[in-house]
Amino acid sequence: MSNEKYPWGTFGPWESVDSFTTSHLDARLKPSLSEGLAHAVKTSEEKGLPDIAVSRPQGKFLMLQARLQRVKNVVEVGTLGGYSSIWFAHASPDIRITTIEVNEHHAAVARENLKFAGVDDRVEVIVGSGVDVMAKLVDEVNAGKRDRFGLAFIDADKENNWNYFNHAANMSTPGACLIVDNVVRQGSLADAEFAKTNSRTAGSRLLVENVGKDDRADAVVMQTVGEKSYDGFLMAVVRDDILDYLKNKSV
Ligand code: DHB
Ligand code: MG
Repeated sequence: MSNEKYPWGTFGPWESVDSFTTSHLDARLKPSLSEGLAHAVKTSEEKGLPDIAVSRPQGKFLMLQARLQRVKNVVEVGTLGGYSSIWFAHASPDIRITTIEVNEHHAAVARENLKFAGVDDRVEVIVGSGVDVMAKLVDEVNAGKRDRFGLAFIDADKENNWNYFNHAANMSTPGACLIVDNVVRQGSLADAEFAKTNSRTAGSRLLVENVGKDDRADAVVMQTVGEKSYDGFLMAVVRDDILDYLKNKSV
């Protein structure tokens, strides 16, 4: 993600801090989780997947968010090799994850990684374009065929960030948490000129602009540093009366 104008990823003590903290704080992880994560990292690399999964502390943060809120159903866009799904699956024994991946090879690697980690019975990998699959999930939720989601993790093509957020909000439980990865983009988020020639930054700016006008959720962007350099995520909490709000909007 580095480029000449936004090089902040090439230096800093962030990786050492990630290593130090995880070596202590993850010392008592279940062996099946540690082994599942290590296997996912190794096979994803061997099978040619890009090295863009969340970092270990980011994965654990996602799991802890899900646990904190006692989430029953997670929707994720951008499965990649299943690394973050493995983390989510360890939030609680009965949590279920629906994860969407456009690339068939990535989905096949993810299914194998999820099976090795012993969580494949609770993680549904759907292959397809995120926007199409999410629209279908919204229809299924509205038809009562699928549970609403208590947490959404959006980590796919950045150009569609707003479309994913929009669908996720429409199939959320009251108080659901919506998290969008990689919105800060080494600071380029705040650079309107840069966004004119960078569609990913433009997609992240559009997300922030639209969420700011959206009545369905309150949101914040948290900037982060770490193994994944300087970036950050948008986190939104959906209003408690979302079901009434959506009902009134559709009439
Ligand atoms: C990219 C995508 C990601 O989701 C990420 O976390 C880092 C990089 C990318 O497409 O370059
Ligand atoms: Mg990401």
